[in-house]
Amino acid sequence: MSAYQKLVAQSQNLFEQFLQEINQQNAQELTVKYLGKKGLFNQLAAQIKDLTKEEKKDFGRELNQLKNKLESKLADYQKQDLPSQIHQDLTMPGIQAKLGHLHPVSQAIEEISRIFERIGFVRVSHPEVDWDYYVFQALNMPANHPARDEWETFFVDQQAHPNLGKMVLTTHTSNGQVREMERVKGQLPIRMMNISRCYRRQSDNTHTQMFHQFEGLVIDKDINIQHLKGTIDYFAKEFFGPKTKSRIRPFHFKFTEPSFEVDFSCHICHGTGYIKDEHNHKINCRFCKSGWHEVGGAGMVHPNVLKAGGIDSTKYRGFAFGWGVERSYTLKQDLNIDDIRLFYSGNQEFLEQF
Ligand code: PHE
Repeated sequence: MSAYQKLVAQSQNLFEQFLQEINQQNAQELTVKYLGKKGLFNQLAAQIKDLTKEEKKDFGRELNQLKNKLESKLADYQKQDLPSQIHQDLTMPGIQAKLGHLHPVSQAIEEISRIFERIGFVRVSHPEVDWDYYVFQALNMPANHPARDEWETFFVDQQAHPNLGKMVLTTHTSNGQVREMERVKGQLPIRMMNISRCYRRQSDNTHTQMFHQFEGLVIDKDINIQHLKGTIDYFAKEFFGPKTKSRIRPFHFKFTEPSFEVDFSCHICHGTGYIKDEHNHKINCRFCKSGWHEVGGAGMVHPNVLKAGGIDSTKYRGFAFGWGVERSYTLKQDLNIDDIRLFYSGNQEFLEQF
């Protein structure tokens, strides 16, 4: 077969291929494929250079006809009903843009703020890096008092303040107590909600060196333990669900008297410590040990703390509580997270689940 015959055969094949594809692809794609700059027609036409002068003339004519046929078929095809041609269902929902979301700890902080705002608490912010005075001294823990040992403190390498002592990373949000009393300058009552980062020298699968606490402080006339218990109960039901119960157990903090530890009933087993299996047999609840989860401390503000904040403890009384945000959040979600450090690992696969 001569080069000329080969090209003529190729041009016929090209047109046949085109006729087969015309109803299967959309007009735009076909135009690019056949008549585009680097399209099949131009690829064929480029081969004309291999022919003799005489053959070029004939093949040129052949090419012109082919081009005309392709163009007119495509023009007809283009006129046909557009939607069916572009294979698009215009009633289909659009593609949803990928949205991020708040970190689970931020979600918990938002929710906790809203819950306390509904009963009149005001969200405030106090330093995360503070003087020893506000973190310990003003909270009835003088220098060298052994009670301080409970808070494994990071000290900041900074010159100590002559009156306020060393600079520390706050080990709890209780530093906000006397700071808040100073801030309101005697304008009582106080209903403070202080949510902040805290730091302790501890790192294992249930502790991170940085974590969050939320601290409530109420100071007014005639405040008693019932107000504290009522507030704890209210939070339990709002945050963990209406069937949740709370209990307070005697404890010791230097800055509250009396002091308590606060537990919430496990909302899997409702405080009983067991659930029933598929045969109606009692089995131990795997989410809690005894039906209750401890979340943190609380108590009636110690008179020495009121005094440090310039408040007359014969006229005013108060209660305070301070609980962990991460701990409360994992309990709420029924999460038996075996490594709490995951929250701060930046691991997208973990965080996307919340
Ligand atoms: N600050 C205490 C802690 O970190 C908790 C607490 C807050 C206790 C307020 C009593 C009153 O453990």
